[in-house]
Amino acid sequence: MSRLPAIRVAPPGPRSRELASRLIAVESPAFDARRETRARQSGAEQSPIVYERGEGSNVVDVDGNVYVDLAAGFGALLLGHVPSRIAAAVAAQEQRMWLALGDVYAAESKVLLCERLAKLYPAPGARVMLGSTGADAVTAALKTAVLATGRAGVLAFEGGYHGLSHGPLAACGLHASFREPFAGQLNSHVTFAPYPHDARSLAVTMGAVERALATGAIGAVLVEPVLGRGGCVVPPAAFLPSLGAASARAGALLVCDEIWTGLGRSGAWLASVEAGVVPDLVCLGKGLGAGLPISACLGSAAAMAGWGAHGGATLHTATHFGAPVACAAALATLDAVDALSLVSRARDAGERWMAGLRARLAGAGVTGVVGVRGRGLMVGVALTGGAARALAVSRRLLNEGWIVVTGGAAGDVLTLTPALDIDESLLEAFAEVLAVAAIATNS
Ligand SMILES: Cc1ncc(COP(=O)(O)O)c(C=O)c1O
Repeated sequence: MSRLPAIRVAPPGPRSRELASRLIAVESPAFDARRETRARQSGAEQSPIVYERGEGSNVVDVDGNVYVDLAAGFGALLLGHVPSRIAAAVAAQEQRMWLALGDVYAAESKVLLCERLAKLYPAPGARVMLGSTGADAVTAALKTAVLATGRAGVLAFEGGYHGLSHGPLAACGLHASFREPFAGQLNSHVTFAPYPHDARSLAVTMGAVERALATGAIGAVLVEPVLGRGGCVVPPAAFLPSLGAASARAGALLVCDEIWTGLGRSGAWLASVEAGVVPDLVCLGKGLGAGLPISACLGSAAAMAGWGAHGGATLHTATHFGAPVACAAALATLDAVDALSLVSRARDAGERWMAGLRARLAGAGVTGVVGVRGRGLMVGVALTGGAARALAVSRRLLNEGWIVVTGGAAGDVLTLTPALDIDESLLEAFAEVLAVAAIATNS
C-alpha cells in the first residue's frame, strides 16, 4: 500500500481514545506524564492514536484513518510495515522452530546470519555477537572494549544516544536527565566530548578527545557516524577518520554505533566505512530485523579475542539472543536491502527529498525553518521555536495524516526516517504539507 493520507475522523478518534485510556491505566506512568508535559509545552493536543495495522509506508489506525508513516518504527522499518519477503521468511522459520538453545545449540538461521554479518565488517576474520535490542549491541561492545583493553573508561559524545539499559545509559549524551536518577548504578568512567556539528567545531571536539585519551583510561570511543536521536547531525568529513586515528594511537577501541545509520538508512551499508574508517566494533540494530527485535555487535578478530580468554565462561548471553525467527528475518532483510538496491536508493531518494524540502521551505511565506539536514533517508528539519513549536508542527502533520517524531537535544527537529522503499511521490507531497504546517504554526 502506498497511499496518500485519508483522515475520516479527527485523530485521535473514539476507538483510539478508548484504547489509549485503557493503556494509560496500566502502563508505566512515564508516557502519559510526558504527553501531559508536551501538551502544556506546545499548547497542542498530544493524545495518542492507536495503530490497527500497517502496510508498506501506510498505517491504519483503529478509527480507520490512513496515515503515511515517516517515522517507520523510529527508523527500524527499512522495508515498511509487514514486508512480504520478510513475512515469508518469518513464516517459514515459524513452521520449523521458534527458539533454539542460545549459545549451547544454535538453529541454522543463526549460523547463516552470523556468517552474513561477519562479511559486512570491512576486514576478514570478524566475529559477531547477537542481541535483541540496540542497547544489547552497545552493551556487548562496551564489555568487549573492557576485555580487549583492560580499561573501563568510555569516551562518548554530547547529543549521542545508545539505548537506555545501564551500560549504554552511562554514555547517553543526549540528555543528562536520562542518566541522573540512576547515576549511582552507572559506570562513572564516562567522559563526554562535544559532537562536531560543522567544520569549525571539529578542532574543539578533537581537543577534548585528545585530552580524554591522554589519561590512558579510555577503552572505548563510542560514536554515532551521524547523530540520530540527536537530530540528524552530519559531522564534518574529517571527524571519523581523525577520531579513528586518535583512538588507535591511544590504544582505545573505536566503536561505531550504526544502529540508526547502518544497513542503508544513511545511504551506505555502514556510514563509518563510507567515511573512511575501519571501526574496531560496529553496533547494528533497528532495521536489522525489519521490525523484529534483533541486534548485533561485529568486531575485528583482535578486538573480539578477549572473549576467548576466559576458559569458556559464558560472560555474555541471554535466552533470546540468536532466536531463530529473528535471525531468519534479519537474513531476509539483508537479502532484500541487497536485491532491491536500497542502499543507493536511500542515498539518491534522500538527496532528492532534502533538495525538494529545502527548495519548498525556502519558498514564499515559509519562515521559522532553520534548515534541512541528514544523510540518505535519515532527515532532520530543524525549526525555530524550540520543542514547543516542533511538537505543534508534528501534531498538525498527524492531523493531516503524516506520522513524524521530534528529536534533537532541544527537541526542535522533525525527524524523518521513512521506509527505504517509500514511493517518492509521497515524499514530494509531504514537502507541501510541511510548508503549510510550518506557516500555520509560525505565529
Ligand atoms: C544510535 C542508537 N543506538 C542505540 C539505540 C538503542 O536501541 P534500542 O532502543 O533498540 O535499545 C538507538 C535507539 O534509538 C539509537 O538510535
